[in-house]
Amino acid sequence: MRMNIHARLLLLLLLAAIAAPALGADVDAAPPTPKGLTGFADIQRWYSARRKEFNEGQARLLQKRYDLSDKAAADGAMFRGKKIQQGVRAKLPAGVTWEDLAKMTPEEIRRRDAFPEGFMPLPHPNHPEGGMLFPRMHIEEIKKQEGRDLERFDLDFDLPEHFLPEFPPAMFLTTRPDLGDVSKGRLVTLDNYYELFDGVLNPKQLDGLRLLLTPFPQQQFNATDDRRVRRPSLGVTCFDCHANGGTNGATHLVGDIRPQEFRHRIETPALRGVNVQRLFGSQRALKSVEDFTEFEQRAAYFDGDITLAAKKGVHVPDRQSQVHHMAELQNLLNFPPAPKLGVNGRLIEAKASPAELRGQALFFGKAKCADCHAPPYYTDNTMHDLKAERFYKPRSSRGMMMSADGPIKNFPLRGIKDTPPYLHDGRLLTLDDTVRFFNLVLETKLTPEEEADVTAFMKAL
Ligand code: HEC
Ligand code: HEC
Repeated sequence: MRMNIHARLLLLLLLAAIAAPALGADVDAAPPTPKGLTGFADIQRWYSARRKEFNEGQARLLQKRYDLSDKAAADGAMFRGKKIQQGVRAKLPAGVTWEDLAKMTPEEIRRRDAFPEGFMPLPHPNHPEGGMLFPRMHIEEIKKQEGRDLERFDLDFDLPEHFLPEFPPAMFLTTRPDLGDVSKGRLVTLDNYYELFDGVLNPKQLDGLRLLLTPFPQQQFNATDDRRVRRPSLGVTCFDCHANGGTNGATHLVGDIRPQEFRHRIETPALRGVNVQRLFGSQRALKSVEDFTEFEQRAAYFDGDITLAAKKGVHVPDRQSQVHHMAELQNLLNFPPAPKLGVNGRLIEAKASPAELRGQALFFGKAKCADCHAPPYYTDNTMHDLKAERFYKPRSSRGMMMSADGPIKNFPLRGIKDTPPYLHDGRLLTLDDTVRFFNLVLETKLTPEEEADVTAFMKAL
């Protein structure tokens, strides 16, 4: 068929119009899953060949949602000096400004599809597959110290390192505040724990630490042919994620929810301050550190699948001789020092800046943060349903349903500047993002100057 130039142009425009939304939707398309593969060699071949595709797919999603540039804040650093990232990083949808959003009701924002995607649930780097993923710097340090390989053949961790906690994090003991950072700037492993802690911990606590540093089989890291590491593996350790009792930002999927696409990505919380907390896990609300310790290895390590756990060599820690030792050590892990806070957890006026003091007044006043985050640890030790789904229509992103989260544990804000990214799934990259997010969720209408003051206050906690 012959067409004149106008007809051709029209056809091109039409094709472009059809392709544009499809390309946009492509970023949120579910990654491929293997069908009918059996045997380790086939599985390894299939996944290894697609590792780059999986990584790049997730990178495109992050690019669409966030400004990922490395921009350090002029003020505030983590305990050992790593810079805190500056600014709201969630990107706005086209044609909307933050001023528009501040004026709209949740219903209007939902109807106009104007909620920033960076404020919606974040999928796992390969959501249909899931499993534990460790940041590069941790994989390298463990390889160096122990010769253990935590690298998966199918997938890499996704967030850039400047959005992660400093590595390794400092470690503080409630029993020996005089010692400061007891890790002495090193990643505590089986290789060095005895040398570092003999004479600082009692024998029971030392044994607890040993167990927290000992690898045990897990879904992707085990010695069967159903694994995602090249060589058979002894497994993972508690401190492979809760590095030095803090966190390195490692991620996996919560074990509790079905089907797979409704499961939450979860970002490792620091274990600092578990001694003053009452609920454990973002959703399960287990009532003791002992219960959580037992449940991690027995169930969470295997996605809550007790049959796979048996096949892969689950280690069931003995409640009296192992779980108690591990819990006792965890209950010694303290928050980092906050030199500007008094004994009641409020700013000491003589030490605080005007911005921090204004931020404190807002935190307890107009911004309503203290309704839930109560001093001195800035938690009320319960769960809250923030109902962020008021602002968006549920939809799928890379194989995950962005749906209602339900009630989530109110994590403490003491030491919060040291543990980015934020929320249970790590969807908020900076403290500025958290203030903007809560400003919308709580409909408090803070001005940008007021938001900056609240951020300044949180850096002092
Ligand atoms: C893949 C990384 C990873 C490993 C390995 C891991 N954890 Fe966790 N841990 C997490 C994540 C993620 C959460 C949050 C769970 C949730 O949101 O339900 C968590 C939560 C916890 C909590 C509750 C913290 C809180 O503030 O509610 C405790 C206690 C805990 N882990 C202890 C352990 C112990 C003990 C081990 C070893 C047996 C272990 N973890 C191994 C990632 C890990
Ligand atoms: C209605 C109760 C409530 C109010 C009010 C509230 N928060 Fe929260 N906050 C929560 C809950 C619940 C979470 C955990 C949510 C999640 O992980 O999905 C949380 C999480 C956070 C986190 C991330 C913690 C972490 O470890 O990742 C920060 C930071 C935070 N809130 C700051 C604020 C600020 C600032 C305000 C006021 C502007 C505020 N919150 C108001 C309940 C509240």
